[in-house]
This record gives sequence, C-alpha cells and structure tokens, in this order.
Amino acid sequence: MIHSKLPKIFYGGDYNPDQWPKEIWDEDMRLFKLAGIDVATVAVFSWALLQPDEVTYDFGWLDEVMDKLAQNGVYACLATSTAAVPAWMAKRYPDVLRVTSDGKKRKFGGRHNFCPSSPTYRHFSRLMARKMAERYGHHPALAVWHVNNEYGGSCYCEQCEKAFRVWLKKRYGTLEAVNKAWNTRFWGHTFHDWDEIVLPSVLTEQLGDGKTTFQGISLDYNRFNSDALLECYRAEYEELKAVTPDIKVTTNLMGTFKTLDYFKWAKSMDIVSWDNYPRYDTPVSVTAMRHDLMRGLKNGDPFMLMEQTPSQQNWQAYNSLKRPGVMRLWSYQAVARGADTVMFFQLRRSIGACEKYHGAVIEHAGHEHTRVFRECAQLGEELQRLGDTLLDSRIESKVAILFDWDNWWAVEMSSGPSKELKYLDELSKYYKALFDRNIQVDLIGEDTPLDSYKIVLAPLLYMVKPGIAGKLEQFVRQGGKLVTTFFSGIVNENDLVTLGGYPGELRSLLGLWAEEIDALPPEASNSIVMEASYGELGAGSSYSCRLLCDLIHAEGAEVLAVYGSDFYQGMPALTRNRFGQGEAWYVATSPDAEFMDHLLFSLCKENGIEPLLVAPEGVEVTRRSKEGRQFTFVLNHNDRSTAIDLGEAVYWELLEGKEHTGLSELPSKGVWILQNEAR
Ligand code: GLA
Ligand code: ZN
Repeated sequence: MIHSKLPKIFYGGDYNPDQWPKEIWDEDMRLFKLAGIDVATVAVFSWALLQPDEVTYDFGWLDEVMDKLAQNGVYACLATSTAAVPAWMAKRYPDVLRVTSDGKKRKFGGRHNFCPSSPTYRHFSRLMARKMAERYGHHPALAVWHVNNEYGGSCYCEQCEKAFRVWLKKRYGTLEAVNKAWNTRFWGHTFHDWDEIVLPSVLTEQLGDGKTTFQGISLDYNRFNSDALLECYRAEYEELKAVTPDIKVTTNLMGTFKTLDYFKWAKSMDIVSWDNYPRYDTPVSVTAMRHDLMRGLKNGDPFMLMEQTPSQQNWQAYNSLKRPGVMRLWSYQAVARGADTVMFFQLRRSIGACEKYHGAVIEHAGHEHTRVFRECAQLGEELQRLGDTLLDSRIESKVAILFDWDNWWAVEMSSGPSKELKYLDELSKYYKALFDRNIQVDLIGEDTPLDSYKIVLAPLLYMVKPGIAGKLEQFVRQGGKLVTTFFSGIVNENDLVTLGGYPGELRSLLGLWAEEIDALPPEASNSIVMEASYGELGAGSSYSCRLLCDLIHAEGAEVLAVYGSDFYQGMPALTRNRFGQGEAWYVATSPDAEFMDHLLFSLCKENGIEPLLVAPEGVEVTRRSKEGRQFTFVLNHNDRSTAIDLGEAVYWELLEGKEHTGLSELPSKGVWILQNEAR
C-alpha cells in the first residue's frame, strides 16, 4: 500500500493552487469532493515562490494549501519543486543553466532546465528537499513524496565535461582502459591525457539522428548523463528519507523514455510512477507494453499512474479529445496492468502559457457541468467503491521480455546495418503477438531473476554484458525456453565486437554461427519457409520477413525454417537448439505479424501457457491476483459492443456488482473486473 491512510486506489493529480487566487481554493475543494478526488500533487513547479531569493523561504501559501487539503480529506503527493530553477538562481548562478549539444549556453526559461552537475543546483535542490521534509514530513495531508518532475535531457557544459572525466576514472581506472574500451586507435582518437576527453556532442562525434561515429564514448556519455541526473534525484531522496523514512518517495518516469536507464533508477525509488500520454494513434498494445515495463522496473510491484490527461493534451501535433469512455477505459488499463493510482495532469486548467489548452478535470468553464468532469466523477465514485480490493494485487506472468537501456542505446547508435533498425519496434512485435492473444508478459531487466518464467524473449540482444550469457545458459539448462533474434550477441558492454563469429557469447547456447547480416531496403522482403511443422506453423507454409536477415549456419541447432529467396535461399531462418533441459530459439530475421503470432502462440501452448481468455479482437484481458483471489480485467477498446464468451465459470463483476457467465455483451469502451468466484 502506498500509504495506510488512504487504503484505496489514489485518485487525483497535479494541482497548482499557486497559479490561482486563494478565493478559488474552496471551490476546488468542493469540486474535488464531487469528483471523488483524494490526492493532489502539489508544488511541482513552485520553487520560485517557495524560495524567492537565496536566503528567503516562504512556505506560507503551501502551509495553507496543505491544511486545506487535510481539512477536506485530500492527501498530498508533495513535490519537492526542483524541476524548474528560479529566475534569480539562473541570474546569480549561471552554472545552473544547461549547455546544448551545439555548445549554446541556455538562458533562464522553460523547465527541466538545470545542469545535473551544477554544484549550485545540487546544493539548493538538496536544501529544498530537506526543508520540505522538515516542514511537511509530519503533516496529516502528506501521503507520498514526488521528487522533481520528469527528469530528462542532457547537458554539455564544462562542469559536465569535468564530471564525465571523473565518472570515467571511476569506471575504468586508467586512460589505457578507456582507450581500449572505446577502440580509440580508430581514426586516431588515442587520448594521452584525461583532459583531452570532451563530451560527445554534435560538435564532436554525434551525427544527428541519434547516430555517432564513436559508440564507446557516446554510450558512456548516456550512462554518465543518466547517472548524473540520478545523483540529483538521490540527493533529494536521501534528505526526504532522513526525515520521513516511512513515506514512499517517487519521481515520475515516462515509460519508454530513452534518455534514462530506468532499471537503474528504480533501485532508488520506493515506488515507480509514470506519466502516460499516448497519441491519438498510439496502439493500445504500445501503451500496455509501457505499463508492463514500468511494472517490471521493480520486479512487478504495483506502480503509480502519476499523470494522464482527462481529455486532451496540448503538446502533440493533433490533440484529439479522448472520446467518451476512453479516459475511464485507459485508466482501468493502467490498473489492469499494475497501477494502484489513477492520477491526472491536471486538476484545474491554467489560464496562461503553453498548457492552457491541456485538458483538466476542472475546465475553463470552471464548474462541474462538463462531459469531462462527469466522466471523472463517475470514475472517482467507482474507485471509491473498489476500496482496497485491488490494492497490492500482482500480475503473474510465465513469459518475460528482456528490456535493456544499454542495448537500446547501442543498437540505435550504430552506423549500420540499417537505419530502420529500432529497438522498440522489434520488441513491440514480440509483445504485440502475445498481447493480441491475451497472454500475460512481464518486461524485465537484466538483473531480474528468471526462475519464475518458462519463456524468456530477448529480441535484439545485441549487447551481451558480463554475466548475461551465463545467466541465460543457466535458465535454458534448467528447462527454460529462450527466444532471441538476428543482431544478437554481437558486442560487449562497450560496443566492441566479440570476435570469433556471431552471435559471440551466445553461440554455443544457440548452436549456430551467423556469418553475415543482410540489410533489406524498405521495398524488399524475403520469406521464411517452414521446413518442419511446429504448432500453428505448418510445414511448407511461408511468411514474409524484412529489415535484416542473418545468414546462419546451424552448429547443432535444428533448422525449422529457411529463407525462401535470394542467394541465401535455403539457409536457416528459424532454429531451435536443445541445451540442457531447455531450448534456445533463434529468429534470424524480422518476421511478419502472422509468423510472430504463430510462433509465440505455439511456443506458449507447448509450455502450458494459455490465453487468460479467448476474446475477440480489440478486447484486452489481464489478471491481477491477491491472496488467492483473481481479478480478470476485460477491456473493450472497440467502437462497438462485443460479445465475450466467459465459458462456464461464474464471475462476480466488481464495477456493476453483478454475476457474469457464458456469453455476455461488453459495451464499447466498457470494462469488467471479474472476480473469480461469485460473491
Ligand atoms: C508532463 C509534465 C506535466 C505536464 C504534462 C502535460 O507529463 O510532467 O507537468 O507538462 O506533461 O502533458
Ligand atoms: Zn552541465
């Protein structure tokens, strides 16, 4: 439970009373009550008000807000306010400002605008966290700490450059080791002095489009930058914990956000929280995968949905409204995948600056007689009724997809073999095949234990860091099924190629050698032709594939399919290697959706993993369990009502409070939460 004071799914979101005259605050409280709102995220961007100059602190208004929240039964997700530096600080201490990749020193403005290495920023942000903790640590409204906001971006200033050298010294010890790790003999890059190392920017190695001429230094810069921001977070975390060890601390993450290694970050978070902003055309499977990734960051612990818009965004190209019922549906999608909160940005829509066209629970009309408010109030009422029923329930998956930020960075930094190779695209294909079948999946990091899984999917395991090959071998030896793909096992943690033939360290596990890698232009494709049959993949059937084709030789692996054309026609395209008690599969190319579906569904079936529910297209099903009770979420994303066959089991549906069995109609955008036994 996030906090025992509020034993239910938290409901609320970002609230900026400091942007409004006090006269309106009581009206806010009235409206919150009407909407069933019990949590307000406050003070996210309030630094300039809380600390008007270097020595003055003014908590008066926040005291009033906190008291008012407490009096009205609303809890605070209290932010430390350090995500945007005050203007006075930027003016007096320009070292807090960032430098862009092309060397321009920023001036005051925007937000998330601090240099992570700035001693001034570190000092004042830490101090602010301390003061917040001391002032509000025992306030009755406090429920959870929200450090900063959406950490991200990067800085190329001289302080960061110096800090990068220190980081490198710690990682490598000697300059020789750095030169070796980065292969600096290439293009005469050998460094003879630490001070010769400069940050990889568009002025040096960055090519734009995320590519770089030197992967070694660029990868290390990404790691350094993620770590530098993490240190800023950790400094605040420590201050908060020192005063309030029992209050959970989080910072809001952003799903599949490339800049920060969230698996590393999550180790310093008491609870993961994240902001969900799908575009109007984002597939629901992609949102689902992001939720699953956020849940995976802390081994399946429930997380917080910190932000979503009740209606529309402002910063996308087309800020379509969420259609009636969609906000509720997507809120339950988050809960269905492990969220124990449903929170919005924002509770009241601001009157000026760039977010005035961003949706809010309270719109510019200022009253409760709006579609959006009514939908929010309905959800608020439902969440109150659910009480603590779902809290802390967990998702049990037998299939995992390995996700790794270093890998993501490395795959996409490389010049070659194809500019179309995108880490998330490949992972999403594997994810979607299982999502469409309503087979539950965890997204896990390289540190996550594998023993509870039967199948581990590791698409594009390009970089094999120390210990990973051994860990996967162990998993397979003990009976696990591993699936990996083309462009795997190529490099070590520094993006240096493992010599002796691809897939390097994975070669004996997979029982094959990949001699060459062909890149297909966008208009070209090849085919995967089944030699033998496997489940739904019938012998002789053919599927299309594209992007990259590894030219492999089986070295013990069984060849299940071959390429259908080109000069490598007849070479293996799908192999299975029996290793110990388990199997290691290799998909040598990027197959079409039908192949993905047939392969993964058959593999699951063979391993006793069945869909949670066989449901029509557009119907998402997940399951959370707790103390022997199971809650099956059925979400209808279709624009029409859909008939779902629940079979003979009799379920108790929690939202409407009635029994369901056999064939039942789920309305368009409708949600069921089916408890496994009738009440
Ligand atoms: C982010 C931020 C919020 C707000 C929303 C708008 O998630 O954290 O402060 O800007 O975007 O969508
Ligand atoms: Zn900097």
